[in-house]
Amino acid sequence: MDIEIFKNWTDKHSKNFSDGFMLIEHRLVEMGIFSDQALARLIETHPDELSMVYTMPLKEAEGHDSFREGDLRETTGKDVIAAVENGRLWVQLLKLNKVNPEYKKLEKKIISEMKGNVPGLKIFGCRLSLLISSPDIHVSYHADIPRNALWQVRGTKKVYIYPVSEKFISETDLEGVYLGETQEAIKYEEAFDQDASIVELQPGEVVTWPINGPHRIVNGDSLSVSIAMEYFEPIAWFRYAVFYTNGIMRRRFGIPLKSTKISGVGMWMKAFSSTFFKLFKVQKKHQLTRYLTFKVDPDSEGGFVNIEKKERTF
Ligand SMILES: [Fe+2]
Repeated sequence: MDIEIFKNWTDKHSKNFSDGFMLIEHRLVEMGIFSDQALARLIETHPDELSMVYTMPLKEAEGHDSFREGDLRETTGKDVIAAVENGRLWVQLLKLNKVNPEYKKLEKKIISEMKGNVPGLKIFGCRLSLLISSPDIHVSYHADIPRNALWQVRGTKKVYIYPVSEKFISETDLEGVYLGETQEAIKYEEAFDQDASIVELQPGEVVTWPINGPHRIVNGDSLSVSIAMEYFEPIAWFRYAVFYTNGIMRRRFGIPLKSTKISGVGMWMKAFSSTFFKLFKVQKKHQLTRYLTFKVDPDSEGGFVNIEKKERTF
């Protein structure tokens, strides 16, 4: 893998990398691992437990009600792509860099270029997932724990990124994200869009945004192929400690802690207590039972047919 992946990295990108919003060009498209044939093979060979398909809302207003999980195990890779291209589906192949040597190499190359451009940068817990999704599909307003970098390979996406402040995501909601509660509760209002950074992400572009930044995504009018990269920098672990501990204190003990400072004695005490809480399982992990309610079918409306609801056991 000799080509440089980042195309136009500047000093400004280096300066803003850790806490900023960054749009940059890349060469993933030229690597030849995203042809229909290569994607079909990946869909068929990626482990079942790391492969997901969902049907999603076409409008934010539809909320999470039309968000359902399905089964793609009996459908060929070629048919899955055809169904996504003409339907309303979202396919995710998770942790490609953990199980696929080609993507492991890609992860190493991306991180080494990032480190080359940002002196002292430390990155851990990197996950690369492939997203193949239908025209016009919509990912509702939410926030994630890791940093995100969204690499567009085919098709376009409109990415709305909102500030990390009480107005856009309350501290209680953010604690909920860290505690692994469902994300549906994060409130979205159309008026928020006035303060959003809106990126029309084109093939050959990658966008990153500040950690925990609420975002929502609307696909363009053709099949979209992207790589979602999630990763942590050391500061993220401290944020984890602070929001996790505050969340438990508020929910289990009714004590709202005001400070979300990521430094000082309080932060270290929280780092210690979050480990303690986890060790002693003070907060029961929110393990939701997942159900499969459709299977992928390129010849049906939306690219799927409903099946009798069954528990996802893999
Ligand atoms: Fe996200």
